Amino acid sequence: MPRHDPERAIDLDLVRCTENASLAAWKHFGRGDKNTADYAASDAIRGMFELIECRGLVRIGEGRKDDAPGIFTGERLGAWGEDHIPAAIALDPIDGTTLTAKGLPGAISVIAASTCTRPEDNPSGLFPAIPSHYMQKLAVGPIVAESDVHVDLDAPLRATLSTVAGQLRKRVRDLVVVVLDRPRHEAIITELRGVGCGVRLIPDGDVAAAIAPSLPDSGVDAYVGVGGSPEAVIAAAAIKCLGGQQLCRMWPKSDDELATLKAEHRCTPDDLARVWDVESMAPGEHIIFAATGISDSPMLPGIRYRNHHAVTTSILMRARNRTVRRVEAYHDLGRKTIRVGSSGDEVTL
Ligand code: FBP
Repeated sequence: MPRHDPERAIDLDLVRCTENASLAAWKHFGRGDKNTADYAASDAIRGMFELIECRGLVRIGEGRKDDAPGIFTGERLGAWGEDHIPAAIALDPIDGTTLTAKGLPGAISVIAASTCTRPEDNPSGLFPAIPSHYMQKLAVGPIVAESDVHVDLDAPLRATLSTVAGQLRKRVRDLVVVVLDRPRHEAIITELRGVGCGVRLIPDGDVAAAIAPSLPDSGVDAYVGVGGSPEAVIAAAAIKCLGGQQLCRMWPKSDDELATLKAEHRCTPDDLARVWDVESMAPGEHIIFAATGISDSPMLPGIRYRNHHAVTTSILMRARNRTVRRVEAYHDLGRKTIRVGSSGDEVTL
């Protein structure tokens, strides 16, 4: 029997995954070791997934570009029972591993899933197999996305800013634009400041940054720049749940990367020139997005410890009905355990 809303069978469990990953990562917060934090978060997600009644196929795993010890494309997650729903998974156990290692704000744990309606369906088409490299990105919120004037990745930045400002009924100089703080963005930052925009520079973590314009009260009007392609797909799932838009295109950083994209990933000139929007990155209706704050970000507060409890805040969204839930959870440190995938054991925090 096809299910009308298969995503409801697993949505809260995805929050358990990102909660556990964040709690596991928190043990390494500010301890200077990003790989250990990433490993712990990934282990917690694998462990929790063993209890989830789904046949999860990781389509977008953590980037191989930085050799992180994460969960990679092609892995299977879930209990994989015969009647369990197939789901394509796009995830980042920690977006902001360096932020976590340095004890800085902006780190989150994040999972998007796109479910099939029938157990026999194949989920592999549900998130595209975009090579794990870099993409040029432009993200705007629902007011801009749903207006008649469309944003264009190839338009001059000034024109885009005028469009965004016009739709938001603001002056260009009142816009706030988030950009990753990287030398490659020097020209963009100069141009943004030249027209008077507020530029919010972030050291890392562009999943939350790309989603921010779609969230009411984030104080962010647009996100521009070059970041990871896995992060772009994950953000697209969330933006789809919120009604915003994100345009992206592959952005090889060097000739070597271009050669790798062509040789290893068989990217054609058309693939390299293709502009991806939210619909092409996150097709389908049965999409769920869950994220938990590790440290404070414009999207979510980070973990807090209070009276022998760890308090986590998560966001859970579904594309079909665009419901956005905030989930605050109190984890009793005397009782809370996390199942880890490496041993199958329940470990204390
Ligand atoms: P990780 O935490 O997975 O390392 O990613 C952090 C991040 O800032 C992403 O949010 C962003 O897309 C990417 O790295 C940018 O890459 P780079 O640091 O190489 O510019």
